[in-house]
Amino acid sequence: MTGWEPPAYPYERLEPARRKAAALPGGAVDLSIGTPVDPPPAGVVAALASGEGVGGYPPSVGTPALREAVAGWLAGTFGVDVGADAVGVCVGTKELVATTPQWLHLRRPDRDTVLYPAVSYPTYAMGAELAGLRAVPVPLDERWRLDLSAVDPADAQRALLVWVNSPANPAGAIEDLTAVAGWGRARGVPIFSDECYVELTWQGSPATILSTGMDGVVAVHSLSKRSNLAGLRVGHYAGDGELVTFLREVRKHVGMMVPGPAQRAAVAALADTAHAAHQRETYRRRLARMAGLLRSAGASVDLPAGGLYLWVRAPGGDAWAWTEQLAGDLGVVGSPGDLYGPAGAGYVRFAMVVPDERLDLVAERLATLTGP
Ligand SMILES: Cc1ncc(COP(=O)(O)O)c(C=O)c1O
Repeated sequence: MTGWEPPAYPYERLEPARRKAAALPGGAVDLSIGTPVDPPPAGVVAALASGEGVGGYPPSVGTPALREAVAGWLAGTFGVDVGADAVGVCVGTKELVATTPQWLHLRRPDRDTVLYPAVSYPTYAMGAELAGLRAVPVPLDERWRLDLSAVDPADAQRALLVWVNSPANPAGAIEDLTAVAGWGRARGVPIFSDECYVELTWQGSPATILSTGMDGVVAVHSLSKRSNLAGLRVGHYAGDGELVTFLREVRKHVGMMVPGPAQRAAVAALADTAHAAHQRETYRRRLARMAGLLRSAGASVDLPAGGLYLWVRAPGGDAWAWTEQLAGDLGVVGSPGDLYGPAGAGYVRFAMVVPDERLDLVAERLATLTGP
């Protein structure tokens, strides 16, 4: 009998490129995984160090203080009014993305399909797979946005939920969330909008699906990128009262709990908009700098509409070959686009997650390579 086997973690395929880059004097400049490197806000670290919240079990749905802080952040960032009762917290958003399909399937056993962007964060498809459901990719348009008109009506009828990601990983697209919400409402399909990069919106203002109303939609946010708190594991979700209540109740039974000290620290992080603005400028500066370096290395690079990634067509079209070449020549490790879906083939994603001095090193290597 053969059962399900966990596939290799996609980034493990990058080991040869990493080794090549690490062999250069000064080592690798690893831009493959979007893990934050900048310091978290000092107030957050102080809240953690107080030790408060360690003794008792933390509420799975989030402390009242944290849910109020989330509601306040939603009001301040987007002008939407969401009561703390329509908010829940998660242990980082990855686990919410990975587990939500199996919980929603308990609610709607008649629906077995998860729709997600064809080039995207791999956990959307994995969440369907872990639940034994169908993961059906939605094609993207020429601007890397969901083309919902391409969804087969039979798949729409079977859809348990649609994932949309705006600004998107990896291509940085900003979605038309009004259109996506309208598509879901017209068909009775819940839309889950992963907005974990929303504070890194470069074109237009930060937008949430909640601005279209709460009915049938859930917005998902994370402190990982906004506040350099990926190690704290705090995310939150808000929206449609029935969906949020259902998830909150199931998740209580599963024992999904953000540790007490992390919940306290998250309140401090959400209240601090100055550090988020500072971090945003750091990413903006790095994106522009790295875009310039890659252009000097012969690539044609557009800045993203949002997010912390450059999404670049490999000169010559072979993303794995270009990744190896950049690793050997410049010590830069990117991630080939097919890690985000077959339609991403030919592109490479670069995450702006190294301190500026590491980009100085890339500039020096480039100058040595290209000569005076
Ligand atoms: C699109 C997207 N969603 C969710 C996550 C998960 O973030 P976290 O679990 O740290 O909140 C990531 C992480 O890179 C991501 O790129």
